[in-house]
Amino acid sequence: MNIKLGEGVAGKVAKTGVEVMANHTDESREELGYQANYFMSVPLKKEDKILGVLNLTDKEGDFFNDVDVKVARYIASQCALGVDRFNVYRDMRKSENLRVIGMLNSSIAHDIKNLLHIVQSYLELIDMEEGLNPDMQDYINAIHLEVKRLHGLSLDLLDFSRQRVSINLETFKVSEMFTEILKHATIMTKDTNISVELNIINDLTMKVDRGKLFRVLFNLVSNAIDALENDGKVVLSCEADGECVVFKVRDTGKGIPREYLSKLFQPFFTSGKAKGTGLGLAIVQMIVEAHNGTISVDSEEGLFTEFIVRMPYNYESFKELHK
Ligand SMILES: Nc1ncnc2c1ncn2[C@@H]1O[C@H](COP(=O)(O)OP(=O)(O)OP(=O)(O)O)[C@@H](O)[C@H]1O
Ligand SMILES: [Mg+2]
Repeated sequence: MNIKLGEGVAGKVAKTGVEVMANHTDESREELGYQANYFMSVPLKKEDKILGVLNLTDKEGDFFNDVDVKVARYIASQCALGVDRFNVYRDMRKSENLRVIGMLNSSIAHDIKNLLHIVQSYLELIDMEEGLNPDMQDYINAIHLEVKRLHGLSLDLLDFSRQRVSINLETFKVSEMFTEILKHATIMTKDTNISVELNIINDLTMKVDRGKLFRVLFNLVSNAIDALENDGKVVLSCEADGECVVFKVRDTGKGIPREYLSKLFQPFFTSGKAKGTGLGLAIVQMIVEAHNGTISVDSEEGLFTEFIVRMPYNYESFKELHK
């Protein structure tokens, strides 16, 4: 039987940490509804923490007295030590299991990443064939896109299980990356009334991890497209601000409920999607912060959502300057 904390005598002892001793006559016991004549309940304490309760009932032929309480306190202190050691052991087992699961994840993600590279290379070879009919070309484009997403996901999982982001610097123009994102977004929204627009206020030359920035923006654009279902607009924009670049991904979708805003970047938080893993934004944040950047969100339910990423456009010189 489960008694809630604070319910019954033992429950009260567990809640307050104060021992209880009750000696009743047969009559008073019946009147009060107690099951035992003599009852003592002592808390199992480790420092200020209550780990459990030791209950003693019906001492043979006698009432419980103060000496019994002292003995019970001693037994309780020994039991508390045992319970505490067991808890420590259980927590260690748990974190060890998590560590092993993490290792397994990263080794699987690593293998998937390599296998997808091979699939991608074969796809590129097929793509180079002359005279493919347009349907076939469409299918190849679709496979390309899905493979790319899987590849991105496996890289995200790798970063996530390592809990560290390695940065490989590359120099490129923002417009070039935006065009690539637009190409993918166009395929993703092919059979919908969703429009994806680019707004390049300053076409900066960036020196950051290109692959990772691509994943950041692609994750945000994918989320924006998901939020639109079938109709609406996504705008991906970029503007210079001192030594930083500010990217905005704005959509006219369903918006984010206020109570979700604080949970968005937590790993495995997902809502309203059949296939969401809830890792996208957690990884986006990890990548942005690894570049000394910030990410924030503004949204109104039923109207819009806007994610704002601010980061140095030249990570190398930024690091040099802020050493
Ligand atoms: N633009 C947006 N509009 C409305 N809700 C959003 C938007 N972006 C994110 N969300 C909400 O935040 C949740 C978390 O997003 P996140 O990208 O971390 O995970 P996910 O998209 O559910 O799964 P995945 O790991 O496949 O990306 C989403 O499930 C969605 O509910
Ligand atoms: Mg997502």
